[in-house]
Amino acid sequence: MEARQLAERLASRRDLAVTLSLAGRTAAPAMPPVPVRVGGFGGAQGLADYLLDQKIDVLIDATHPYAAMISSNAAAAAPRARVALLALHRPGWTPVAGDRWIEVGDVAGAVRALGNVPRRVFLALGRKEIEPFADAPQHSYLVRSVEAIMPPLKVPHAAYITGRGPFAEADERALLEQHRIDIIVAKNSGGPATYGKIAAARALSLPVIMLRRPPLPAVEAVETVDDAVAWLDHASAPPAARGV
Ligand SMILES: NC(=O)c1ccc[n+]([C@@H]2O[C@H](COP(=O)([O-])OP(=O)(O)OC[C@H]3O[C@@H](n4cnc5c(N)ncnc54)[C@H](OP(=O)(O)O)[C@@H]3O)[C@@H](O)[C@H]2O)c1
Repeated sequence: MEARQLAERLASRRDLAVTLSLAGRTAAPAMPPVPVRVGGFGGAQGLADYLLDQKIDVLIDATHPYAAMISSNAAAAAPRARVALLALHRPGWTPVAGDRWIEVGDVAGAVRALGNVPRRVFLALGRKEIEPFADAPQHSYLVRSVEAIMPPLKVPHAAYITGRGPFAEADERALLEQHRIDIIVAKNSGGPATYGKIAAARALSLPVIMLRRPPLPAVEAVETVDDAVAWLDHASAPPAARGV
């Protein structure tokens, strides 16, 4: 999301030639007004080769906080290609009074945290993350993902909805009530767009199994699009700095 917002902010800059790189997971991504390239680079060396080949000056890693592989590849590739690197990662949410979070390290931990007693579970996770829940078929699942889940989870009780957000708290609360959800599994994405379910869970006193963020490489980092633009302005960027 930040990558697209940053691209929108930079699109009209005559001093920059911006390229946005997408992994290609989403069938119809919202396209920004800058050139877009799609698909993996072939690991850190592939990314370094791309940066050199395209004569990139600046690399901004504005990927999702849970996309740890590409962030790690960026940290390895930037020095190899002698490219300046900035990470733009929105801050995570922190629990406030009334929240009932159960923090877990990974999806397998989330499955375990659901326990043996059948529950009605709202999975606000990506397509790639839900498969381990097939090991806990005693629960009823409501799965919401950006892309449709195909094939469906191998459990007797599961319903699916798609949606990209932003999601308002009142709508999230209505959804949780309508499906009589008693526990939520979510990622700590940060930002307002997907916070509605967390606030709604608090209002309904529902527990949230929160997947902890993966560790990210130690590189220079900012938390907002404004700060990334300011960094670019202050970086001793040559006249035709290119960013990914
Ligand atoms: N993981 C999540 O929870 C999550 C949530 C929402 C959105 N997304 C978005 O979905 C995309 C993929 O996520 P992921 O979890 O698969 O990431 P990942 O595990 O960090 O990356 C896996 C591989 O996908 C390729 N890749 C990832 N991001 C790329 C990019 N921006 N441009 C080109 N190649 C990219 C890279 O392939 P090569 O090694 O071949 O270069 C990378 O090694 C990311 O852009 C991320 O922002 C992820």
